[in-house]
Amino acid sequence: MAAFLRCSKLRKAFNDQTILDGVNLDVSSGECLVLLGPSGCGKTTLLNILCGSAPADSGEIVCNGETLDAPGRGIYVPMRRRGFAMVFQDFSLWPHMRVADNVAFGLRMQGVTRSERKRRVDETLSQVQMTHLRDRLPGELSGGQQQRVAIARALAVRPRLLLLDEPLSALDARLREDLKHELSRLLKTTGITAVYVTHDQQEAFTLGDRVAVMHEGRLAQVDTPEALYNQPANSFVAGFIGSSNLVGYRRVNGHLVLDDTLRLPLAHEQIPDAGQLMVRRESVCVCTDDACSQDDWISLHGICEQTHFLGDRREAHVRLPNGRTWRGFAEPGIATGTPVHVRFPRSAIRFLAQ
Ligand SMILES: Nc1ncnc2c1ncn2[C@@H]1O[C@H](COP(=O)(O)OP(=O)(O)O)[C@@H](O)[C@H]1O
Ligand SMILES: [Mg+2]
Repeated sequence: MAAFLRCSKLRKAFNDQTILDGVNLDVSSGECLVLLGPSGCGKTTLLNILCGSAPADSGEIVCNGETLDAPGRGIYVPMRRRGFAMVFQDFSLWPHMRVADNVAFGLRMQGVTRSERKRRVDETLSQVQMTHLRDRLPGELSGGQQQRVAIARALAVRPRLLLLDEPLSALDARLREDLKHELSRLLKTTGITAVYVTHDQQEAFTLGDRVAVMHEGRLAQVDTPEALYNQPANSFVAGFIGSSNLVGYRRVNGHLVLDDTLRLPLAHEQIPDAGQLMVRRESVCVCTDDACSQDDWISLHGICEQTHFLGDRREAHVRLPNGRTWRGFAEPGIATGTPVHVRFPRSAIRFLAQ
């Protein structure tokens, strides 16, 4: 099936600095695709190019068979003709308009009749549970309420694509958590196609049917949350998602050599001769006894450097004789400064492409 939205080889530079470096991305109809990456990696630039507030330097954007942006062929459909809606981090409401008028604004621009306008404003305000505040001004609302209005305003125009740029980032942690689940439900029930930008992994995993991990203007991996977590394609994704131990390795005469110093027997793994391997923090047990040193477990020895209480578990940092610090979850009672074992099953090791 053809993608609803297809970006091919999108490039963008500002002042000779490459910001988007050949982005290929497909979004299916009804899907929420999350763009996840650290600050400055080009997420907002890509979203702006999608919505049509800026053209790409080269590449193509096609939506539902219609080419929206193709500089090589002189095609550029302006923002107002794309039929998209955008939600911003700072809400961007009209401060002098009441809630209901803010939501009706785009509909008025589209020339929607008065009765249909009223129907859609009522419907979308109800979807975001803001009906009772319809006569307030934005300045009389909390941040979370303002963002609900901005979402209602975007949904009311029935966009064929909804673009959201860090919509929860200006809200405090508790509210962000609540609104994240509400938004996820809303996107699913409306069946809208969305591209959602965030730097927050939890948000990306809650909202994204698929998540595109962005790094320095390129997409490092586009996959379901489960696949990103369990089979990261490279060490950037492995390091950016979750908490991991990332260690360089080499194969030498049937052994696995970690950090050029630590020699382990190799158990027939089909792996490249050298690279990086990953062991997730939660796969690593930091303990004082080495009772279950079976063949399918690896046990390293070190000194517990520090522990952190995380609420449901305690994290331990263990320094090995080669200087490398490993992170894992500690057994109860592990004290700083004591000799410990760092244990994990072989099956927890992921060998990564460079
Ligand atoms: N209009 C612009 N002019 C010059 N540089 C820009 C402009 N917009 C963005 N940049 C630069 O592009 C890079 C990516 O920015 P942005 O897309 O906003 O990243 P993100 O949203 O991932 O934080 C940054 O280094 C930023 O300074
Ligand atoms: Mg941004």
